[in-house]
Amino acid sequence: MRKQIVAGNWKMNNGLIQAETLISELKQQNQTSEAEVMIAPSFTNLWHAFESTRQYPIEVVAQNMHFSEDGAYTGEVSAGMLKSIGIQTVILGHSERRAYFNETDEALAKKVDTALKHDIRVIFCFGEELADRKSGNHETVVENQIKNALFHLKASDFEHIILAYEPVWAIGTGETATPEQAQSMHAFIRKTLADKYGQDIAESVSILYGGSVKPNNAKEIFSKPDVDGGLIGGASLNAEDFFAIVNAF
Ligand code: PGA
Repeated sequence: MRKQIVAGNWKMNNGLIQAETLISELKQQNQTSEAEVMIAPSFTNLWHAFESTRQYPIEVVAQNMHFSEDGAYTGEVSAGMLKSIGIQTVILGHSERRAYFNETDEALAKKVDTALKHDIRVIFCFGEELADRKSGNHETVVENQIKNALFHLKASDFEHIILAYEPVWAIGTGETATPEQAQSMHAFIRKTLADKYGQDIAESVSILYGGSVKPNNAKEIFSKPDVDGGLIGGASLNAEDFFAIVNAF
């Protein structure tokens, strides 16, 4: 059975005090679903968030990391540093990293390798832009993003990979892919995996949908057979909204 996962990507929001408040509100929420719950605070809040959720079924994950082991990379954070404070999962390839920080498929392939080498699980993000969808190229774009960054991996590596399909045109815009568009792309992603690694691997990988998932649309999106959860931006900054989404399974 594939894992159902709901991960909150806080992006560049919340100083220490706001993070403390949000975490204490998250801890008061009642989880009725079986989904794995994750939050991704910024680097400055990771240690505090990790410590204060130790006794709770909330995993604290990082939003990014560098591909090098260590060295002269001012402003960057390594896999070893994440591991040293207990972090076990990292988001890689978010469209904002690709668009504003020029992250390429090649760099992402290296980041994936470094994460796996350190036993860090990867939430690998990808998705097409509006122009790709309009021109009918969305499947090709997504297929290439997956192939370029992940298809050098061994089948067994996929135990540590979670995929997150996030159409760029739906992120932070209030516009979501329809549940049918999400399902159709998720099925295509699973087929792409199956063609390369076989049906068993493809069936075992969780594929999350991201892009304006809210309490009022989560249930319908999560009801689709190939949608195994969500990567939530804006709505993860409010504890009640976030848990309404967690409980939408
Ligand atoms: P959003 O962000 O839910 O605010 O659209 C999703 C994401 O970027 O992961």
